[in-house]
Amino acid sequence: MVLHLILTLLCSVLALVSGYSTTLPISSFDEGYSHLFGDDNLQVLKDGKSVHLSLDERTGSGFVSQDLYLHGFFSASIKLPADYTAGVVVAFYMSNGDMYEKNHDEIDFEFLGNIRGKEWRIQTNIYGNGSTNVGREERFGLWFDPSDDYHHYSILWTDDHIIFYVDNVAIREIKRTGSMGGDFPSKPMTLYATIWDASGWATNGGKYKVNYKYAPYIAEFSDFVLHGCTVDPIELTTLKCDPTPNSNSILAHITPVERIKMEIFRKKHMQYSYCYDRMRYETPPHECVVDLEEAKRLKSFDPVTFGGSRHRHRGRTHHRSRLESF
Ligand SMILES: *[C@@H]1O[C@H](CO)[C@@H](O)[C@H](O)[C@H]1NC(C)=O
Repeated sequence: MVLHLILTLLCSVLALVSGYSTTLPISSFDEGYSHLFGDDNLQVLKDGKSVHLSLDERTGSGFVSQDLYLHGFFSASIKLPADYTAGVVVAFYMSNGDMYEKNHDEIDFEFLGNIRGKEWRIQTNIYGNGSTNVGREERFGLWFDPSDDYHHYSILWTDDHIIFYVDNVAIREIKRTGSMGGDFPSKPMTLYATIWDASGWATNGGKYKVNYKYAPYIAEFSDFVLHGCTVDPIELTTLKCDPTPNSNSILAHITPVERIKMEIFRKKHMQYSYCYDRMRYETPPHECVVDLEEAKRLKSFDPVTFGGSRHRHRGRTHHRSRLESF
């Protein structure tokens, strides 16, 4: 307990010192993004820097980055809808499903709504080269209520690792291993944000559905960071790489202190990991390191059902016509 306190304290001090996301330029919505679907359920606020995505009985909504990226640091500040949100999913993710229908890549943050009085959960996952038959989902609770205020959610994607961050705390690291083969995302992707009705699976395996009595459900986005290498959508050649700020090393590996902090978070907040799902994987995928205590702890959580990426690409036709217009 004392050790935990000391580590937590040490980590917060270091996080303050290193707080890199504040050193990266924030882009406005119009500079970096396009409307994907949902008509006026997407609203850009007057400052041009914040966007509200809403879900009502007619439609969800979403937007997509104008540029295609191969690696980088991608972040947004997000405030989720409050109160009864069962069945609602807010997704913040990278994908190239529009360009590669059979062998797409994906890096996902999915926020899963909940019944009143129970908290949002956050799901992370990746697919590489169409590996949709091997989900690598993990689910977490958070140490705050994400509907109370804006919080930063970030994806770091390099050639050999992916890190998911919440408020600059690394919550999951995926290293590219030999056994993963093509399952590690490696083709250029765009960044998406959507809100949609996932009544079939999001809350307790689909037991609780979206209730439109509480609509509209509004997810608020701000502080967009798109920092990486842009790629030409036709030629697939690199156009330009943003400079890495030299005050810190965002494209470097996770530091020992970050790793300790991540382990503390995961012990406390992880609710599901594919590595422990014996119904799904009789033998866990090769990259998994299984801990028996953890296996026992994870048994106590809700049934888990997964979305599958198909559901989410409702805006596909809009996006494609945008790409064709280049
Ligand atoms: C990705 O998939 C394509 C088509 O299925 C295949 O030809 C290619 O070898 C795969 N790449 C990797 C890195 O596995």
